[in-house]
Amino acid sequence: MKKNIIELQKKLQTLLSAEKDNYLQGKVANYIPALASVKPDLMGIAVGTLEGKVVGAGDYQHPFSIQSISKVFGLVMAINRIGDPLWKRVRMEPSGLPFNSIIQLQAEKGIPRNPVINAGAILISDILTSNFSSSKFAFLTYIRKLARNDNIRIDNDVYLSEVKHGHLNAAFAHLMKSFDNIESEVPDVLSHYFTQCSISMSCEQLAQSLLFLANKGIDPITKETICTARDAHRVNAILSTSGMYDQSGEFAFSVGLPAKSGVGGGIIAIVPGYGVICTWSPPLNHYGNSVVGMNLIENIAEELGLSIYH
Ligand code: DON
Repeated sequence: MKKNIIELQKKLQTLLSAEKDNYLQGKVANYIPALASVKPDLMGIAVGTLEGKVVGAGDYQHPFSIQSISKVFGLVMAINRIGDPLWKRVRMEPSGLPFNSIIQLQAEKGIPRNPVINAGAILISDILTSNFSSSKFAFLTYIRKLARNDNIRIDNDVYLSEVKHGHLNAAFAHLMKSFDNIESEVPDVLSHYFTQCSISMSCEQLAQSLLFLANKGIDPITKETICTARDAHRVNAILSTSGMYDQSGEFAFSVGLPAKSGVGGGIIAIVPGYGVICTWSPPLNHYGNSVVGMNLIENIAEELGLSIYH
């Protein structure tokens, strides 16, 4: 067991070293100053296994802006809170468009294609805002509990920048409200959405906190049920088809794991029955996915034979 962990750690270090200069192929998200100023050459990888061990290399303990990775936690919280009626308000199909495209939403009468594009995550934020007395606090508490770490914080600079530059997200919310698919007041829903995007976590914390999705909904350490096995399956299915946006097909083709990226440069990949991989490297490709993160996950999945399509 100990030997396996040491070997895995060595493997991660080797894979990371091979990526040393590849961050230069991407571009750090610059839609807000708080993200544009992150050092582009930081990079880390962590693997959490169902035995409860998290192994990492590089900057795997460095907190970064989780951005759209927060959509995974929000989805699980919302499913737990309202159950199947959720699927009347948001669909489970890939959008085939960038995560922040608005054109589909009007044509489809304010029903977002899936819960991990921005429109879908704002819809989920509405469910949380409408069903928790303090949804932001509930969200942070939930993440801290899953990660077993009370120091996880909201980055206020990121939050303020998100609010200031959030016009397109506001447009999604108003458009869905015009179709009666948003219950709470739009400013409250947006404030929740921007808050969850602004949480900072490390690869180590993310890998730890999502282990239940690799274990049929059960936290492998505490044995607590975080969601039902059916819902863990559903979340993983959505991550497989839509988690890497309109690069999800290519990701399934080359990697074969449910995954979710964020514009902060993080990616989480769920390996059912094994654990969670989390990578972080800020420079992004054209689709908004981390260049180095994609390479790292592809390489580790290949080396360890982790694809779910085997
Ligand atoms: O709302 C937005 O557009 C950003 N705060 C988050 C987007 C994001 O991370 C998409 N992921 N690749």
